[in-house]
Amino acid sequence: MEIDLSKIRDNTRILADLYGAQGISIMGVSKAVLGEPAIIEAMIQGGVKFIADSRLENIQKMKAAGISTDFVLLRTAPSQAELIVEIVDISLNSELETIRKIAYYAGLNNKIHQIILMVELGDRREGILPCDLAKFIREILTLSHIKIVGIGCNLACYGGIKPDDQNMHGLSEQVELLEKEFQINLSIISGGNSANYEWYKETQDVGRINNLRLGESILLGCETVYGNVIPGLQTKAFQLVAEVIESKKSHLCPLVKFAEMLLATYQLFKIKVYIKDRSLH
Ligand SMILES: Cc1ncc(COP(=O)(O)O)c(C=O)c1O
Repeated sequence: MEIDLSKIRDNTRILADLYGAQGISIMGVSKAVLGEPAIIEAMIQGGVKFIADSRLENIQKMKAAGISTDFVLLRTAPSQAELIVEIVDISLNSELETIRKIAYYAGLNNKIHQIILMVELGDRREGILPCDLAKFIREILTLSHIKIVGIGCNLACYGGIKPDDQNMHGLSEQVELLEKEFQINLSIISGGNSANYEWYKETQDVGRINNLRLGESILLGCETVYGNVIPGLQTKAFQLVAEVIESKKSHLCPLVKFAEMLLATYQLFKIKVYIKDRSLH
């Protein structure tokens, strides 16, 4: 596999400029490349603000390689609460029990762990139902060593719900309501992933959305609703290179031969039917 780091850096820079024009920062999602440090460096050079991964071991690998940035854990497993507190400062969350465990270990280590609450907006992959959000937050605010720094959502992933003005404005409205009700400041409003490109291009108003978590569009240059290439992005950062052992044209294609045989049998059958019919009349 040949990986062109300059293409990854350039893709990141173009996306950072594109979304940055409306105040939207980027989390570079590193899970598809297992946190490969050289690739992550390229994302950082291109201007991502955070690196987000679903696996703690990938984050450990990046840290061990000397990458210093804000890491975000995308998939927060309750069994890993202790390690989560040790390894990352920010995680996406949608389960109270898990947050309680994180709070417990954060307390033991005298740390403040920051959480982004994921809200379910129809895609059914993850998140707290909007109707449960206020109750959920009320519970979290009773915990020490946990700070709610933002909310987010994930669409076009499981249930095929596209990001659009309705769901994005819905998320922004939640932010306004929660900030007012709980007198908190939500600084990260993470509106989605590489599927948010079409919405972003079409919308007149990004509302409170100020962050996107991007994997595929950085790495492969495409948005993920229609699979279209994002203008200006490189699609060949990853190329599988292999030696060609033999290359020639052959006129003997077994499939064609087989099709010819089938056709001949069919013709024969038709003729037989015809003869049979004739003899009947
Ligand atoms: C929670 C979350 N956000 C964002 C992403 C990035 O998605 P994409 O690669 O479509 O940009 C992923 C998946 O990789 C994810 O699991």
